[in-house]
Amino acid sequence: MKKDLISIKDLSKQEIYKIFNLAAQLKKEQKQGKSHNHLLAGKTIAMLFEKPSLRTRMTFEVGMYQLGGHAVYERLIGEKIGDREAVQDVARNLERWVDGIVVRTFSHQNVTDLAKFANIPVINALTDLLHPCQILTDMFTILEKKDRLDGIKVGYIGDGNNICNSWICGAEKTGIILKIACPKGYEPSKDMTTKSLFITDNPEEAVKDSDIVYTDAWASMGQESEKEMRTKVFRTFQINKRLLSNANPDALIMHCLPAHRGEEITDEVIDSLNAIVFDEAENRLHVQKAILSLLLRNEL
Ligand code: CP
Ligand code: NVA
Repeated sequence: MKKDLISIKDLSKQEIYKIFNLAAQLKKEQKQGKSHNHLLAGKTIAMLFEKPSLRTRMTFEVGMYQLGGHAVYERLIGEKIGDREAVQDVARNLERWVDGIVVRTFSHQNVTDLAKFANIPVINALTDLLHPCQILTDMFTILEKKDRLDGIKVGYIGDGNNICNSWICGAEKTGIILKIACPKGYEPSKDMTTKSLFITDNPEEAVKDSDIVYTDAWASMGQESEKEMRTKVFRTFQINKRLLSNANPDALIMHCLPAHRGEEITDEVIDSLNAIVFDEAENRLHVQKAILSLLLRNEL
């Protein structure tokens, strides 16, 4: 039976580590110059994007090429999947031509509907609710740096958005201890876990003793009209040297990118030796190659 990747919740701990192990192998082999073009030779994916992207688009397209396949990218501008024809018809067309769908949408429902109607794997490349490929990559990056996930303390500072929601799912599966700091009224979705969460509106509390300090944009894609208002609300949630004086001196700094320098993070912090943001960005390629290979070969 085909498997989708809509949320980290869909994966068992064992499946998550299967992705990480393959990603580590592919990364090592890629650096040794070993070709992976037998893994998905002749396979194709459709990439439907309602929102802009640098990292996700590049890494899925390059990844598919390195695996011996091909990606067809379609950027929907001012149009949502389901506007021109029903989502179920989009699904039933695509499944006749390609072997997988990578999709970035505003509405999370559109992704779950595509997955329901298409008889091929559907991979969530970000919705307003979740960004599973990003947080899987972030956890893989932490594993590379710290050799474990269980018991690692992540302080998430900022908006309770798609990134924060996926962190909640990822932490629950791996034993990461997550502390979230967000302004009142900007908390993450209540549907991510039934377990109790550490949520505070005091960023100092969330960074205290953290091994990792993580942040994201204050205004996500689609919230551009709220940017001015949000900049005021989130002003005290900036990752800067003063806030980090409460963290472990060796705490690693993470950001899914794109970063808004001078807003949620200062130049001084993002350019510091403790920042691993470009390692995260690089690993999107290796982790997504593992996801593509496992899902399209029906091995997960
Ligand atoms: N982090 C991330 O998903 O970046 P893009 O929006 O550039 O794809
Ligand atoms: N929360 C951000 C993540 C970008 C990768 C957004 O949705 O725009």
